[in-house]
Amino acid sequence: MTLYYEDEYVQLHHGDCRGIRGWTRADVLVTDPPYGVAWLSGQFSNAKVPIETDVAGDADTGARDAVLEMWGKNRPALVFGSWRAPRPQDVNNRLIWYKAANIPGHRTQPWFAADEEIYQLGTGFIGKPEQNVLVTHDRRDGAHGEVAKLGHPTPKPVGLMERLIAKCPPGVIADPFAGSGATLLAARNLGRKAIGVELEEKYCELIVKRLSQQAFDFSALEGVS
Ligand SMILES: C[S@@+](CC[C@H](N)C(=O)[O-])C[C@H]1O[C@@H](n2cnc3c(N)ncnc32)[C@H](O)[C@@H]1O
Repeated sequence: MTLYYEDEYVQLHHGDCRGIRGWTRADVLVTDPPYGVAWLSGQFSNAKVPIETDVAGDADTGARDAVLEMWGKNRPALVFGSWRAPRPQDVNNRLIWYKAANIPGHRTQPWFAADEEIYQLGTGFIGKPEQNVLVTHDRRDGAHGEVAKLGHPTPKPVGLMERLIAKCPPGVIADPFAGSGATLLAARNLGRKAIGVELEEKYCELIVKRLSQQAFDFSALEGVS
Protein backbone atom coordinates (compact mmCIF):
# COMPACT_ATOMS: atom_id res chain seq x y z
CA MET A 1 0.00 0.00 0.00
CA THR A 2 1.68 3.19 -1.11
CA LEU A 3 -1.14 5.73 -0.66
CA TYR A 4 0.12 8.39 1.73
CA TYR A 5 -2.48 11.15 1.42
CA GLU A 6 -5.71 11.81 -0.40
CA ASP A 7 -8.13 14.72 -0.63
CA GLU A 8 -10.79 15.75 -3.12
CA TYR A 9 -8.14 16.75 -5.66
CA VAL A 10 -4.80 15.19 -4.76
CA GLN A 11 -3.57 11.66 -4.26
CA LEU A 12 0.01 11.20 -3.04
CA HIS A 13 1.89 7.91 -3.00
CA HIS A 14 5.10 7.22 -1.12
CA GLY A 15 7.62 5.04 -2.90
CA ASP A 16 9.62 4.54 -6.05
CA CYS A 17 7.44 5.71 -8.93
CA ARG A 18 8.94 3.01 -11.15
CA GLY A 19 7.21 0.41 -9.00
CA ILE A 20 3.82 2.18 -8.90
CA ARG A 21 1.57 2.27 -11.97
CA GLY A 22 -1.47 4.33 -10.92
CA TRP A 23 0.04 7.65 -12.00
CA THR A 24 0.43 6.42 -15.60
CA ARG A 25 -3.38 6.47 -15.95
CA ALA A 26 -3.45 10.28 -15.55
CA ASP A 27 -4.00 12.50 -18.59
CA VAL A 28 -0.95 14.80 -18.49
CA LEU A 29 2.53 14.34 -17.05
CA VAL A 30 4.00 17.47 -15.43
CA THR A 31 7.18 16.60 -13.64
CA ASP A 32 10.55 17.78 -12.43
CA PRO A 33 12.69 14.64 -12.28
CA PRO A 34 16.25 14.24 -11.03
CA TYR A 35 18.03 15.97 -13.94
CA GLY A 36 20.91 13.51 -14.16
CA VAL A 37 23.58 16.07 -13.35
CA ALA A 38 24.70 14.76 -9.93
CA TRP A 39 23.60 18.12 -8.55
CA LEU A 40 24.92 19.25 -5.22
CA SER A 41 23.62 22.43 -3.70
CA GLY A 42 25.57 24.77 -1.50
CA GLN A 43 24.93 24.80 2.19
CA PHE A 44 22.03 26.96 3.30
CA SER A 45 23.22 28.94 6.27
CA ASN A 46 19.85 30.72 6.55
CA ALA A 47 17.85 27.48 6.69
CA LYS A 48 15.24 27.07 9.39
CA VAL A 49 14.95 23.33 8.72
CA PRO A 50 17.53 20.66 7.76
CA ILE A 51 18.07 20.51 3.98
CA GLU A 52 19.49 17.72 1.88
CA THR A 53 22.16 18.99 -0.47
CA ASP A 54 21.47 16.42 -3.18
CA VAL A 55 18.53 14.88 -5.02
CA ALA A 56 17.92 11.09 -5.01
CA GLY A 57 18.60 9.39 -8.35
CA ASP A 58 20.43 12.37 -9.88
CA ALA A 59 23.54 10.47 -11.04
CA ASP A 60 22.04 10.04 -14.52
CA THR A 61 18.76 10.42 -16.42
CA GLY A 62 17.76 6.78 -15.75
CA ALA A 63 14.84 7.57 -13.45
CA ARG A 64 13.46 10.20 -15.86
CA ASP A 65 13.82 7.92 -18.87
CA ALA A 66 12.17 5.00 -17.06
CA VAL A 67 9.22 7.24 -16.20
CA LEU A 68 8.90 8.47 -19.79
CA GLU A 69 8.96 4.87 -20.99
CA MET A 70 6.16 4.00 -18.53
CA TRP A 71 4.21 7.08 -19.63
CA GLY A 72 4.44 6.10 -23.29
CA LYS A 73 5.17 7.95 -26.52
CA ASN A 74 3.12 10.85 -27.87
CA ARG A 75 1.25 11.48 -24.63
CA PRO A 76 1.29 15.08 -23.31
CA ALA A 77 4.13 15.77 -20.92
CA LEU A 78 6.08 18.73 -19.53
CA VAL A 79 9.41 17.64 -18.07
CA PHE A 80 12.02 19.86 -16.42
CA GLY A 81 15.68 19.31 -17.24
CA SER A 82 19.16 20.68 -17.65
CA TRP A 83 21.19 21.42 -20.77
CA ARG A 84 24.03 19.53 -19.07
CA ALA A 85 22.22 16.19 -19.41
CA PRO A 86 20.92 14.48 -22.58
CA ARG A 87 17.41 15.65 -23.45
CA PRO A 88 14.58 13.13 -23.49
CA GLN A 89 13.59 11.60 -26.84
CA ASP A 90 10.74 13.07 -28.92
CA VAL A 91 10.85 16.62 -27.54
CA ASN A 92 8.39 18.83 -29.48
CA ASN A 93 9.32 22.11 -27.84
CA ARG A 94 11.71 23.49 -25.27
CA LEU A 95 10.65 26.14 -22.77
CA ILE A 96 12.99 28.18 -20.63
CA TRP A 97 12.31 29.08 -17.03
CA TYR A 98 14.20 32.34 -16.52
CA LYS A 99 14.78 33.29 -12.89
CA ALA A 100 15.16 37.01 -13.45
CA ALA A 101 15.83 37.87 -9.82
CA ASN A 102 18.35 35.12 -9.24
CA ILE A 103 21.32 36.70 -7.51
CA PRO A 104 24.03 34.19 -6.66
CA GLY A 105 26.43 34.34 -3.81
CA HIS A 106 30.15 34.33 -4.45
CA ARG A 107 30.98 32.84 -7.87
CA THR A 108 34.31 32.29 -9.59
CA GLN A 109 32.86 32.18 -13.15
CA PRO A 110 31.92 35.30 -15.16
CA TRP A 111 28.43 33.87 -15.88
CA PHE A 112 26.01 32.03 -13.69
CA ALA A 113 22.92 30.06 -14.63
CA ALA A 114 19.59 31.80 -14.17
CA ASP A 115 17.56 29.40 -16.31
CA GLU A 116 16.32 25.86 -16.51
CA GLU A 117 14.77 23.95 -19.41
CA ILE A 118 11.29 22.46 -19.65
CA TYR A 119 10.58 19.95 -22.43
CA GLN A 120 7.19 19.56 -24.06
CA LEU A 121 6.47 16.05 -25.32
CA GLY A 122 3.29 14.91 -27.00
CA THR A 123 0.54 17.30 -28.09
CA GLY A 124 -2.80 18.73 -27.00
CA PHE A 125 -1.53 21.80 -25.15
CA ILE A 126 -3.93 24.73 -25.18
CA GLY A 127 -4.26 28.47 -24.53
CA LYS A 128 -3.09 31.77 -25.93
CA PRO A 129 0.33 31.51 -27.58
CA GLU A 130 3.14 33.15 -25.62
CA GLN A 131 6.91 33.23 -25.78
CA ASN A 132 8.69 30.09 -24.69
CA VAL A 133 10.56 31.98 -21.95
CA LEU A 134 8.70 31.95 -18.64
CA VAL A 135 10.06 34.65 -16.38
CA THR A 136 9.79 34.70 -12.62
CA HIS A 137 10.96 37.67 -10.57
CA ASP A 138 10.88 36.35 -7.08
CA ARG A 139 14.13 35.68 -5.26
CA ARG A 140 12.32 32.84 -3.55
CA ASP A 141 12.50 30.99 -6.87
CA GLY A 142 16.19 30.53 -6.35
CA ALA A 143 18.03 28.48 -3.82
CA HIS A 144 17.34 30.86 -0.97
CA GLY A 145 14.09 31.76 0.74
CA GLU A 146 11.87 28.95 -0.48
CA VAL A 147 14.52 26.28 0.02
CA ALA A 148 15.38 27.47 3.47
CA LYS A 149 11.72 27.59 4.38
CA LEU A 150 10.62 24.27 2.95
CA GLY A 151 13.65 22.06 3.48
CA HIS A 152 13.57 20.65 -0.07
CA PRO A 153 16.64 21.51 -2.16
CA THR A 154 14.91 22.15 -5.51
CA PRO A 155 11.35 23.43 -5.05
CA LYS A 156 9.67 24.99 -8.08
CA PRO A 157 7.47 28.07 -7.64
CA VAL A 158 3.80 27.14 -7.41
CA GLY A 159 2.96 30.11 -9.66
CA LEU A 160 5.25 28.79 -12.40
CA MET A 161 3.62 25.36 -12.17
CA GLU A 162 0.19 27.01 -12.41
CA ARG A 163 1.21 28.74 -15.63
CA LEU A 164 2.35 25.44 -17.11
CA ILE A 165 -0.70 23.48 -15.97
CA ALA A 166 -3.04 26.19 -17.33
CA LYS A 167 -1.82 25.27 -20.84
CA CYS A 168 -2.15 21.50 -20.35
CA PRO A 169 -4.87 19.42 -21.96
CA PRO A 170 -7.79 18.66 -19.64
CA GLY A 171 -7.75 15.85 -17.11
CA VAL A 172 -5.69 14.52 -14.25
CA ILE A 173 -2.09 15.71 -13.78
CA ALA A 174 0.63 13.21 -12.81
CA ASP A 175 3.86 14.11 -11.05
CA PRO A 176 5.85 10.96 -10.19
CA PHE A 177 8.73 13.08 -8.77
CA ALA A 178 6.63 15.23 -6.47
CA GLY A 179 9.41 16.70 -4.30
CA SER A 180 7.95 19.49 -2.16
CA GLY A 181 4.61 19.20 -3.97
CA ALA A 182 4.58 22.33 -6.17
CA THR A 183 2.86 20.56 -9.07
CA LEU A 184 0.21 19.06 -6.79
CA LEU A 185 -0.48 22.39 -5.08
CA ALA A 186 -0.68 24.19 -8.42
CA ALA A 187 -3.05 21.61 -9.89
CA ARG A 188 -5.33 21.82 -6.88
CA ASN A 189 -5.24 25.63 -6.96
CA LEU A 190 -6.53 25.41 -10.53
CA GLY A 191 -9.25 22.97 -9.52
CA ARG A 192 -7.57 20.03 -11.26
CA LYS A 193 -7.04 16.55 -9.93
CA ALA A 194 -3.47 15.34 -9.51
CA ILE A 195 -1.61 12.21 -8.55
CA GLY A 196 1.92 12.38 -7.17
CA VAL A 197 4.64 9.99 -6.07
CA GLU A 198 7.62 10.83 -3.87
CA LEU A 199 10.43 8.50 -2.83
CA GLU A 200 11.49 10.25 0.37
CA GLU A 201 9.07 10.09 3.26
CA LYS A 202 10.24 13.40 4.69
CA TYR A 203 9.14 15.12 1.47
CA CYS A 204 5.80 13.29 1.56
CA GLU A 205 5.33 14.78 5.03
CA LEU A 206 6.24 18.21 3.67
CA ILE A 207 3.74 17.88 0.82
CA VAL A 208 0.95 16.90 3.19
CA LYS A 209 1.82 19.85 5.43
CA ARG A 210 1.68 22.26 2.50
CA LEU A 211 -1.55 20.79 1.16
CA SER A 212 -3.12 20.94 4.60
CA GLN A 213 -1.94 24.47 5.37
CA GLN A 214 -2.74 26.11 2.09
CA ALA A 215 -6.17 25.96 0.64
CA PHE A 216 -4.82 28.19 -2.12
CA ASP A 217 -1.18 29.22 -2.41
CA PHE A 218 -1.82 32.75 -3.73
CA SER A 219 1.46 34.05 -2.31
CA ALA A 220 3.37 31.94 -4.81
CA LEU A 221 1.78 33.88 -7.66
CA GLU A 222 3.60 37.05 -6.64
CA GLY A 223 6.47 37.94 -8.89
CA VAL A 224 5.51 35.61 -11.72
CA SER A 225 5.12 37.32 -15.08
C1 LIG B 1 13.86 17.79 -8.67
S1 LIG B 1 12.99 17.17 -7.31
C2 LIG B 1 11.32 17.69 -7.60
C3 LIG B 1 11.04 19.05 -7.01
C4 LIG B 1 9.59 19.46 -7.12
N1 LIG B 1 9.22 19.81 -8.48
C5 LIG B 1 9.29 20.63 -6.21
O1 LIG B 1 8.78 21.67 -6.67
O2 LIG B 1 9.59 20.54 -5.04
C6 LIG B 1 12.90 15.45 -7.67
C7 LIG B 1 12.24 14.63 -6.58
O3 LIG B 1 12.09 13.29 -7.04
C8 LIG B 1 12.30 12.41 -5.95
N2 LIG B 1 12.66 11.10 -6.53
C9 LIG B 1 13.87 10.72 -7.01
N3 LIG B 1 13.78 9.47 -7.51
C10 LIG B 1 12.49 9.06 -7.33
C11 LIG B 1 11.77 7.86 -7.65
N4 LIG B 1 12.38 6.85 -8.24
N5 LIG B 1 10.45 7.80 -7.36
C12 LIG B 1 9.82 8.85 -6.76
N6 LIG B 1 10.45 10.00 -6.42
C13 LIG B 1 11.76 10.11 -6.71
C14 LIG B 1 13.39 13.07 -5.12
O4 LIG B 1 13.35 12.63 -3.78
C15 LIG B 1 13.04 14.55 -5.29
O5 LIG B 1 12.24 15.01 -4.21
